[in-house]
Amino acid sequence: MARIGTDIDHARRLLEAGELVAIPTETVYGLAGNALRADAVAKIFAAKNRPQFDPLIIHVPDLGSVPAYAADIPPAARLLAEAYWPGPLTLVLEKRDIVPDLVTSGLSTVGIRCPNHTLTRTLLQSLAFPLAAPSANPFGYVSPTEAAHVNEQLGDRIAYILDGGKCPVGIESTIVGFEHGRPVVYRLGGLSVEDIERVAGQVSMQTNASSDPRAPGQLKSHYAPARHLILGNLPDLLQQYAGRSVGVLSFKTSYEHHDNIILSPSGNMQEAAQNLFAALRTLDKRKVDVILAETVPDNGLGRAINDRLRRAAAG
Ligand code: TXA
Ligand code: MG
Repeated sequence: MARIGTDIDHARRLLEAGELVAIPTETVYGLAGNALRADAVAKIFAAKNRPQFDPLIIHVPDLGSVPAYAADIPPAARLLAEAYWPGPLTLVLEKRDIVPDLVTSGLSTVGIRCPNHTLTRTLLQSLAFPLAAPSANPFGYVSPTEAAHVNEQLGDRIAYILDGGKCPVGIESTIVGFEHGRPVVYRLGGLSVEDIERVAGQVSMQTNASSDPRAPGQLKSHYAPARHLILGNLPDLLQQYAGRSVGVLSFKTSYEHHDNIILSPSGNMQEAAQNLFAALRTLDKRKVDVILAETVPDNGLGRAINDRLRRAAAG
């Protein structure tokens, strides 16, 4: 198991030595290494068992650091960064040569994000390089929103876990690219499409590429628990599965079932997003045959929650 703590200096020294450290962000925990060192980046792919065709995003302390790694910042990208960084938004920009091809899986673009978490921002400010960091979970599994989640699955493969508590957003960043200067959403996430459109005008969606995905977060089956998850109308599903051992994941309704997790009893979407991945992990550990789940209202963060539920159901 990895050491867990809040020692930013220890994390910095390990990263400077090319080692991996799990870092907290407002979205999910990341598995971080020096983005400018191919040997450190290779360790990330290996620890996650992640195929090298799936590019990593890099984390920077502020917008001012971006020109060192991106060749061009379209006006819409700048507006979005000014409005929402630090925050749950990844911008896909044309990369500079200094970013190793291993980071971007050979793409000419790189995903860049400025995370909103005090520990990690302090860490980033103390480093002379950006951090490549995918979510700190084995490839294809649910992302970690607590240090303990990271330790359970990757604890023996990383030197240190920087413990920043529970991730307040709970769902990965929204990924936005630019085609002819216009924003394109590649992955729904912790920043809503409505918020993006308010600043950058109408966006187009490319979140469902099936083959050769631009973002493998676009893979139909991803973010999946080990147990089979069935999405639908819960009262119907409960009838259909009567007598079977089931876990129930509901938005705000209580189904008076001992394995029922309610994402937000008050129907608060932010709270539901925050609890989603931990709930999937908890139900995964119970001895149930299947997890029955329902979608949430399809607006704001609800769209990203439903996206993750659909991909979990396809797993
Ligand atoms: O919230 C987050 O984004 C978290 C925290 C740790 O920052 N990170 C995260 O990384 O979710 P990861 O690797 O699990 O997901 C990043 C997604 C992947 O699906 C990857 O395919 C996509 O970003 N991506 C990376 N570079 C890209 C690029 N140049 N163009 C399009 N998609 C890209
Ligand atoms: Mg991931």
